[in-house]
Amino acid sequence: MFPYIIINVAMSINGKISSANGRYNISTEEDIHRTMNLRNRVDAVLIGANTVMVDNPILRNAKNRIILDAKFKLNENFHVFDGSVKTYIFSLKNKKINNTQTVVLEDISLENILNKIRDLGIETILVEGGANVINQFIHKNIFNEFYIFINPKIVLSGKSLFENIEIKDMEYSILKSDNGILLSINRIPNMR
Ligand SMILES: NC(=O)c1ccc[n+]([C@@H]2O[C@H](COP(=O)([O-])OP(=O)(O)OC[C@H]3O[C@@H](n4cnc5c(N)ncnc54)[C@H](OP(=O)(O)O)[C@@H]3O)[C@@H](O)[C@H]2O)c1
Repeated sequence: MFPYIIINVAMSINGKISSANGRYNISTEEDIHRTMNLRNRVDAVLIGANTVMVDNPILRNAKNRIILDAKFKLNENFHVFDGSVKTYIFSLKNKKINNTQTVVLEDISLENILNKIRDLGIETILVEGGANVINQFIHKNIFNEFYIFINPKIVLSGKSLFENIEIKDMEYSILKSDNGILLSINRIPNMR
């Protein structure tokens, strides 16, 4: 059984989710506030290892943290390992960082990870990135809610959200936002 899954990401109008210095100038004050409210709704926030390395986020308000790190490239020098909340690392490798619990998996498919998360008693998750992790959910069309905040700003260098993926007929609604556009993606029925 999977947890209830919310995906949330901030993107520039030309499709970038990070700039030369990480994600921070893609979000806005209002968008950060909205993200905090989403974190309050869920049992855990899930991110990929590259997001930890590039942004070194603390994931304020997260009740639990889940880090996907297949090859276990992370070390203890990141804020997410500060021990302030329960932090799980899902990996192929049986390694350990203080203040965390490693969940060692032979099969790191999204389905297997989600089943394990539910087995841990985590019923709702917020997936916050990065592109690699979010694309796995998009490819498999596995999510319950999916929000993209589009900041009307052009970012020249950085990571694109949609790469090597052609999405047809995305169904979405446009939610109002004072300083950008908030898309709520309902379904992704067709893609290559
Ligand atoms: N704008 C936003 O809202 C936002 C939010 C978050 C992040 N970002 C940006 O996104 C960028 C990072 O994105 P990214 O695509 O490079 O990387 P990412 O998605 O953060 O992390 C990818 C890494 O996570 C691990 N991973 C992915 N799927 C896994 C699985 N199923 N099981 C185990 N491990 C798994 C892999 O580690 P291995 O290498 O070991 O396979 C992979 O290399 C950063 O620049 C950050 O600033 C933007």
